[in-house]
Parts: sequence; C-alpha cells; structure tokens
Amino acid sequence: MSLLQVEGLEMHFPVRGGLLNRVVAHVHAVNGVSFEVQRGEILGVVGESGCGKSTLGKCLVRLNTPSGGAFRYDGVDYTHADHEELMDYRSRVQMVFQDPYSSLNPRLTIRDCLTEVILFHRPHEAEVRDVDEMVLELVQKVGLRADAVDKYPHEFSGGQRQRIGIARALACNPEFLIADEPVSALDVSIQAQVLNLLMDLKDEFGLTLIFISHDLKVIEHFCDRVLVMYLGNVVEELECETLHESAQHPYTRALLGANPINHPRERRELTVLEGDVPSPFDLPPGCAFAGRCPIAEPRCSESRPPLEEKRSGHRAACFLVE
Ligand SMILES: Nc1ncnc2c1ncn2[C@@H]1O[C@H](COP(=O)(O)OP(=O)(O)OP(=O)(O)O)[C@@H](O)[C@H]1O
Ligand SMILES: [Mg+2]
Repeated sequence: MSLLQVEGLEMHFPVRGGLLNRVVAHVHAVNGVSFEVQRGEILGVVGESGCGKSTLGKCLVRLNTPSGGAFRYDGVDYTHADHEELMDYRSRVQMVFQDPYSSLNPRLTIRDCLTEVILFHRPHEAEVRDVDEMVLELVQKVGLRADAVDKYPHEFSGGQRQRIGIARALACNPEFLIADEPVSALDVSIQAQVLNLLMDLKDEFGLTLIFISHDLKVIEHFCDRVLVMYLGNVVEELECETLHESAQHPYTRALLGANPINHPRERRELTVLEGDVPSPFDLPPGCAFAGRCPIAEPRCSESRPPLEEKRSGHRAACFLVE
C-alpha cells in the first residue's frame, strides 16, 4: 500500500467583495489532484508560480482544510481529522516552508524554538533525555555549529536559515517531509549543499519526501518521480530518470526547453512560453494550457483532457499524447 494516497484533492479559496463583503468568486488553487507516494521515495512537484504547489503542500499537512477530495496517510483519512487526531499526524508529517524567515519566530533563539517543538511532539523522550543535548544534536545534524543555538533567526544567512527550518521539521522526528522550494531562494552553490543535506537526512532517517520546486532541473536530479502541475491540475506524472526522453505533455516539454543550456554559446536558444496563464477565478472549460500550447487543436478548448495512464508509471492529460 502507498504511504500517501491523494484522491481528487481540491482547495478553493473564497474571495469576498462588494459592500456586504459577500463571497463573489473562488480561487481554484488546487483542482482535483490525485497521486500516490510510496514509502522512501522522493516525489517532485513542479510548475509555475501560482499553480498551487504550496497550497497542495499545506493541504497535506492540514494547514488548509481541503474543500474537496481526500487524502489518506498510512491508511488513515486525515482530510477532515480534528485537532486531536492531527496531533499524531503532524509529528509524522512535517513541512519545510518556502520562506524560512517568515516561518521562524524572530523572538526565539534556535534553542528555544527547537526545545518548544521537542517538548510538544516528543514529551516522553524529553522526560528521559537531556533536551539541550537533543537540540545540539539536531543543530549539528543540519550542519550548523553548536554556538548557533543561542542565536536568533535574523543572525543567519539564507542557506543557514533553511537549515534551521529543516532542523525544526526534524525536531518532531517525522517520517515524511514536504519541502516547499527549500533551495529556490539560495545561491546555486548553496543549493547543492542544502540538497545534499536533505539527501543525507533522507537516508539517515529513512524519510519519504515531497519536494516542491519550480525548477525542473533540480527536480530531475533530486527526485524519483515528478508531478507537473498547471493551474491547480496535474498535467503529467513520470519517472525522473527518463524525463527528457519520456516527457510528452507540451507543457512539460516547454519546461524542459526553458531550461537554460549550460554551454554559453547555446544560451540564445531559450524557449519561452508565450501567452498568459488563465485566471484561477474562472477556469476555461477545456485544457487550461490550450491558450499557450503550440500544438493545440480546437477540441482542446472545448473539453478537458483527463489525466490518463499512457504507460506504466506515466500519466498525461493531453488529447494529443498517445
Ligand atoms: N489563503 C489564500 N487565499 C486566497 N487565495 C490563495 C491563498 N493561498 C493561495 N492562494 C491562491 O492560490 C493560487 C495558488 O497559490 P500557491 O501559493 O499554492 O502557488 P505556488 O505554486 O506555490 O506558487 P509559487 O511558486 O509562487 O510559490 C494562487 O492564485 C494564490 O493567489
Ligand atoms: Mg509556493
């Protein structure tokens, strides 16, 4: 059985307006997303800004309560679990946030921040072990010096703050980590360090990971499988090992083409997607990508192509993919 099973998950945010502050529309941030994650694997989630990656992650740690669909973790449905049921879930499944600065309390030292998490999520262990020692262990695990514990978040660089974000997630001793753009804000040289750290921690703790990024190149190197999202939908799902050869959906192909080529003289050949992403307020009846798709046919704007299995382990939502 898969560790995580997501079925038709939806997150629609109400938008209020007018004199009476009534709900006038909904933002369709996540729009019927289904997938599974196997124990021990790294699943990448890729897509442009606003396509719903963070919202999906927040639904899965129940910072958002999904407006439709369901998800099960280790066989248990947590879609509408109450506060008490979520206590246990949240020490097993943790999220590392996109912006580590705003997710860390600026008034707590690293020691206080990690102590708080340990006392809350691992009270029994904290009774028999020295909590300070546990904090120190965590800080060193993520590659920070021991004297980091007495500092405040603002005293660290971006890469170090991301490490603290990871340490805080690990303080619960989780089995499943949802890492939301953990390296996007960092310099390329630091990116590799944080990715290596995540990889080491994955092996050491036997973690399962969802890795969110808008950079298909990072996903390709780091993940086993990838979900390609477009405007709240999954348009393709495939193995990363054969990404370049197997990618079929025109959007995935565009994302691959948009990757800058390393050779400086070939840099000119950057494929740029033209046209706009439709508004998440009122979705078009057909394929959301049709307006920007280089091979779209009239039928693509009339009805939405379902996400279908094209080959074992490979799904795509496109009428024109065999
Ligand atoms: N709390 C909220 N209330 C209303 N709309 C929201 C809320 N959170 C997200 N949205 C909207 O949902 C859509 C998806 O946002 P989300 O942050 O999930 O995208 P993303 O893929 O993570 O983007 P990025 O790559 O920029 O982080 C956007 O249109 C966003 O404006
Ligand atoms: Mg995001």
